[in-house]
Amino acid sequence: MRIEENRSLKLFNTFGIDCNARYFISVNSKEELRNVLASERKNDLFVLGGGSNILLSRDINALVLHVDMKGIQVLSQNNEEVIVEAQAGENWHEFVHFCLAHDFGGIENLSLIPGNVGTAPIQNIGAYGVELKDVFESCTAIEIDTLEEVHFRKEDCRFGYRDSIFKQQAKNKFIITAVQFRLTSKNHKLHTSYGDIQRVLDEKGIVNPSINDVSQAVIAIRSSKLPDPKLLGNSGSFFKNPIISDLEFKKFRIQFPEAPYYEVSPTAFKIPAGWLIEKAGFKGKRFGDAGVHAKQALVLVNYGNASGKEIWDLALRIQKKVRNLFGITIEPEVNVY
Ligand code: EPU
Repeated sequence: MRIEENRSLKLFNTFGIDCNARYFISVNSKEELRNVLASERKNDLFVLGGGSNILLSRDINALVLHVDMKGIQVLSQNNEEVIVEAQAGENWHEFVHFCLAHDFGGIENLSLIPGNVGTAPIQNIGAYGVELKDVFESCTAIEIDTLEEVHFRKEDCRFGYRDSIFKQQAKNKFIITAVQFRLTSKNHKLHTSYGDIQRVLDEKGIVNPSINDVSQAVIAIRSSKLPDPKLLGNSGSFFKNPIISDLEFKKFRIQFPEAPYYEVSPTAFKIPAGWLIEKAGFKGKRFGDAGVHAKQALVLVNYGNASGKEIWDLALRIQKKVRNLFGITIEPEVNVY
């Protein structure tokens, strides 16, 4: 465990933004984590997980703590279900692989999501009809102030759409060290009705899909729409899909009857931000090295050397135009620093 000074964070954020950490340390165990938290620097801490849900718009004049604990283990198993624990620093997609290889079902729809296991609960990652909360059993965290280990059960986490207690009341108070998942070991419940999954399975002539088939379908769909961060810097959906009231929706629908929407409840409607951004004329547009992905307008991309500020300026420009055109405010999904 060694503190480095003035380290570039380019390789530690999927946007590929080249900004500096004044100090940087990587921790591989709870003991190392506790040691850092016990040091006098703990008041000046910036916690970094997989770096896949953050836009760094400036240098970080603090100690950047890279949570890098590894390990996956089966905690218990019966005929139907299995509880699997993964340490926070495990790469999410590698964890999905592990589960597929052991025929543990439940997270196949979450294939290929960038980021780490430890940050997945913070924003309750979700895709193709499944959210992390559907398979979440509990997580273990260290409280920054007390160094105590705290166990959060599912009901403690107050999961919502791209939301949890770790983005609200518990924000910056805990460091998640491991997550426990409840998965199926038999009779997997497949979710194939969302989006194009069923179409891809039909095209391949797969009638009784396995969890691996579903994963392959999700990978094919994602790869066709979402850029690979290793090739083109990005952070997945930059904005959340806005949820508007039934009254707002009525007005919106009269003006834009062609817009797609999902009914969240009789009084709340979700409008795809990608549609709003495309309609506002930004899809595929490039401003210097900052741009809007050509195949999915929700995704902002770094063509190489964009600064975080350039990406953020573009986001604000998009937000303003969408508000002016539709009267709807779209909020960032990524954390902006
Ligand atoms: N749409 C457009 N133009 C676009 C993009 C989308 O018109 O450029 C329309 C589509 O035609 C479709 C609707 O918007 O009618 C929804 O599009 P899509 O199914 O691609 O999903 P999304 O709502 O844009 C959400 C998640 C994604 C997740 C997909 C699939 C959010 C903010 N995003 O996107 O999550 O992969 O559903 O489940 O909820 C992420 O969070 O990083 C992410 C990629």
